[in-house]
Amino acid sequence: MKFIYLADTHIGGSDHAGYTKQTRYLCYFSEIMACLKNYINTSGDIDFVMHGGDIIEQTTPETITVAAEFFGQLPCPTYLALGNHDLTADNSVELWLKYAPQFFPSGNPDFRLINAGVQLDVMLCNWGAVPAFWKPEEAQIPWLSAAQFKQLDTLDPDCFTQLIVTHSPMYGMPPEQHGGTDALHAPGGDFCEKMGKHLQSTALVLGAHTHMNMALKQAGCYFATAAAFSEMPFEFKIIEVTRDKLSMKTVDLSSMVSFRGEYNFAASYVQGRPRDREFSEERNLI
Ligand SMILES: [Fe+2]
Repeated sequence: MKFIYLADTHIGGSDHAGYTKQTRYLCYFSEIMACLKNYINTSGDIDFVMHGGDIIEQTTPETITVAAEFFGQLPCPTYLALGNHDLTADNSVELWLKYAPQFFPSGNPDFRLINAGVQLDVMLCNWGAVPAFWKPEEAQIPWLSAAQFKQLDTLDPDCFTQLIVTHSPMYGMPPEQHGGTDALHAPGGDFCEKMGKHLQSTALVLGAHTHMNMALKQAGCYFATAAAFSEMPFEFKIIEVTRDKLSMKTVDLSSMVSFRGEYNFAASYVQGRPRDREFSEERNLI
């Protein structure tokens, strides 16, 4: 299985307001997507694009349709793990399944992809008191339901490993990456503890939400997040999993676009050190 992982595009949002870690260029998003399309065509071996959530800023039929049109131009399927900004309407799941069902191959926002012995479990992340509905004024406490955890606990008999995608990361950015004293943007509540009990066959957990690159390894499992794809320098991950190898690398498109994006060097920890951006490991996953 080889796929692109990207996140936090916030289509329909503003380039000058809202949470960002680097300069956002939604004004050039068509061009950024054209560069991604070109990258996928040139690579020739990308199975799909996995979006880690917050594909849009606010959940309406119009923004969902725009997002579906952007990603529909790519030469491979796109799948989506719904994030908090994708759930701002009280009927968000209904809207997604109506206007962009292609992002959810089993007709459900929690779904499983199986490809060449790899099981990828994608989970909608809940954030507020009401499941699948996030009110921006509410504190962000990520959680999965008991039914979602149950789904994570099964490994298909044809699969040798599991990958999980859900919008919240399990861990904050380690202090040594950003130079502070505490983990940055760690999830609230008991998300990490609860998730940690359901990672028996898991090789990699992919998150988003922080708009920052991160890669950690704990107890044999990798935990990674992606910088926001619509922010400089327009980064995404290439994830490759085979029976004997697991690898991730980070690619940026800033040199491929026609405009010169502004980069905040004071926040270069967002892009991270080489170890926060890539890993490659020979594994015996049989
Ligand atoms: Fe988010």
